[in-house]
Amino acid sequence: MNKLIIANWKMNKDFSEIDEYCKYLDKNVKDKDGVIVCVPSVFIKTVSDNKKTRFSVGAENCHYEKKGAFTGEISAQMVRSAGAEYVIIGHSERRQLFGETNEFLNKKLHAALGAGLKPIFCIGETLEQKDKFKSVLKKQIEEGFAKVEDFSNIVVAYEPVWAIGTGKVATTKDIEKVHSYIRSVFETKFNVKVRIVYGGSVSTENCGEILSLDEVDGVLVGGASLDPVKFTKIIESR
Ligand code: PGA
Repeated sequence: MNKLIIANWKMNKDFSEIDEYCKYLDKNVKDKDGVIVCVPSVFIKTVSDNKKTRFSVGAENCHYEKKGAFTGEISAQMVRSAGAEYVIIGHSERRQLFGETNEFLNKKLHAALGAGLKPIFCIGETLEQKDKFKSVLKKQIEEGFAKVEDFSNIVVAYEPVWAIGTGKVATTKDIEKVHSYIRSVFETKFNVKVRIVYGGSVSTENCGEILSLDEVDGVLVGGASLDPVKFTKIIESR
């Protein structure tokens, strides 16, 4: 199974850039299996309908209700029907800037699974929490994944908050240590094996080393995924 290479465009790009991006990846990425590009919801249909899109498309967020009076929100069913196969849930920017709690994210996780989406569920400690990362991650996992029965379509993304968009990447030793801890929590609590990707300042320079680690099942890339040339280099380094 290929390692997963996941792009997170965040709130960037416009419609005029989509065709060129898809075209570049189509031409330059040899094996597209396991390549997932998560885009703002308004772009999902355009990206997934593009004939040159041979990678998987993901949303960056979804609401937990199916429909109703939730002005401005977008349901899991809606992003699924627009062409998304994956959805990012619990990104640290959602947790920190929009106050999303573990309980709230657990509802989104169930909604995503119910809609047939494959969740990419993010966990990670802040700089202040670095010394107690174990208890922080354990709580995020236990509360975030409560009542989940089928983990087969779930991807866990470990993104230390202090490494996101800062250029401060975790050391390979730290990544190995934390991934193996996360793995053990899932095994103990839920008796399952999960795929764990690393995110936080992944670049064309450090991706090879990170992706070579046995503990790492892929990477979640923010800034460096905006440039199709850089993103392709990261994909090709696996
Ligand atoms: P970054 O973002 O690669 O720009 O650090 C990663 C993420 O937020 O998913």
